[in-house]
Amino acid sequence: MYLPAWPGLGMKEWRGTSGCHLPFPLNAQNTTYFHTARSAIYYLFRELVKSGRGVVLVPDYHMGNEVRAIRASGAQIAWYPATRRFELDVDGLRRSCQRARAQVLFVIHYAGWPQPIEALRTFCEEYGLILVEDCAMALLTEREGQPVGTSGDYAIFCLYKTLPLPDGAVLVQNRGKFDQLTALPLRRSGRIFTGGRIAELGLERIRSRWPNMGRHLMDWKLAAGRLLTRLRVERVPVGDTGFDVANVDIGMASVSRRLLTRLDYEAIKKRRREHFHLLAEQFPAEAVRTDLEPGVCPLFFPLLVADKAKAAQALWSRGVMATPLWNEGDASLGLHEGEASRFLRRHVLELPIHQDLNQKHLTYMARQVRDLGIALRSESIRDPEFQPV
Ligand SMILES: Cc1ncc(COP(=O)(O)O)c(C=O)c1O
Repeated sequence: MYLPAWPGLGMKEWRGTSGCHLPFPLNAQNTTYFHTARSAIYYLFRELVKSGRGVVLVPDYHMGNEVRAIRASGAQIAWYPATRRFELDVDGLRRSCQRARAQVLFVIHYAGWPQPIEALRTFCEEYGLILVEDCAMALLTEREGQPVGTSGDYAIFCLYKTLPLPDGAVLVQNRGKFDQLTALPLRRSGRIFTGGRIAELGLERIRSRWPNMGRHLMDWKLAAGRLLTRLRVERVPVGDTGFDVANVDIGMASVSRRLLTRLDYEAIKKRRREHFHLLAEQFPAEAVRTDLEPGVCPLFFPLLVADKAKAAQALWSRGVMATPLWNEGDASLGLHEGEASRFLRRHVLELPIHQDLNQKHLTYMARQVRDLGIALRSESIRDPEFQPV
C-alpha cells in the first residue's frame, strides 16, 4: 500500500463541473492570490510595519516559514506560549502583550482546530491590537457556523495543503484594507514548475491506487527533476522550509485558479472528518486531541509518538507517508520556547487523513501504527512534567 502525505490529482478533478459553490475565502472580497502563504504574510506585515504596527505577538509553536516572512518584513516579534493541546495560552499571551506593548496579534489555527476567535477579538479590542489569522492549516474550518479567517482584520490561507493544487495561497483583508495589496504586480510561477507539480500530484494519485506502477513512474519523474536541476532550470518549490525574499512576488498559477472552480468542497471536508474519526476511534488516547466540533476540517491526525524520526521511518518503510511535524521553530526563538511547544515538536507525527485516501488505506495505516507500537499515550498531555526519553 502507499498512502501519500498530500491529496493527489486525477481525471475526477479535471472533469469536475466548473462553477461550483466556492467557500470562504474563495468567495471573499479584497483578496490577493499568491504562490505560497509566506509571500502573503510578508506583504501584509510589510504594510503593517509601514503603518506603525511593527510589534507582533507570535506563538512559540509555529512552522518557521511564517515567522521568517514576518521577520523579513521588518516586524519585531514578541513570543507567547502555546499549550500541549494546540491552543494558545491566554495567560501567557496577556503577559507577553503587556510586556512588549504589542500592536498586532498573530494566531495560528493549528491543524484545522479553530482558536477561540471571539475571545481573541475582545482581547484585541482591550489592547488595541490588529488581529491576523493564520489559516494555512485550517481551510474549510468553521467555528459556530462562521468560517475561520472572517473575524480577524486579515487572514492568510494556504490552499495546496488541503486541496490538490500545484500551488496557491490567499490573503484576505476584512478590515483596514491596504489597496496596494490587491494590485501587486506578481510574476507567474513558470510552466515547468506547474507541469512538474501536476505530474507529481497525478503520480501520487496513481501510486495510491497502484503502488508498484506509481513507484516506477515517480522514479522517472524524480530523475527528470534532477536533470532540470542540473540544467539549472529554476523552479520555486511549495511545501519546503525556508523564506527567500527574491521569490515573494510570485502569484498563484492560473491552472490552480481553474482547478479551484472544479472541486467539491463539501465532499472534501466530509471525507477528511470521516477519516479523522476512524483514526480517533482506534487511537482515542494517543493523539494531541481527538475532539472534532462540527465545522472543523482537520488537516491531519496528530499522533503522539515517543521517537518521531524512528516512527516516521518505520511508517515510510510500510508505505505510509507520515510527516514529522515542525521539528524546530525559527532560529530567533531560542530560549523563548515554552515547554508545551518543545513537547509538541518532539512528539507529534502527522498521519494523513486527506480526501484522496479510502477506508482500506485508513485500516491499513491504523494496523501499521498498532503493529509498530509507536504511539505514546496522551496522559503525557495532561502532565506538564512528563518528558519521555
Ligand atoms: C501555520 C503556517 N503558516 C504559514 C505557512 C506558510 O505556508 P507556505 O508553505 O504556503 O508558504 C505554513 C507552512 O507550512 C504553516 O504551517
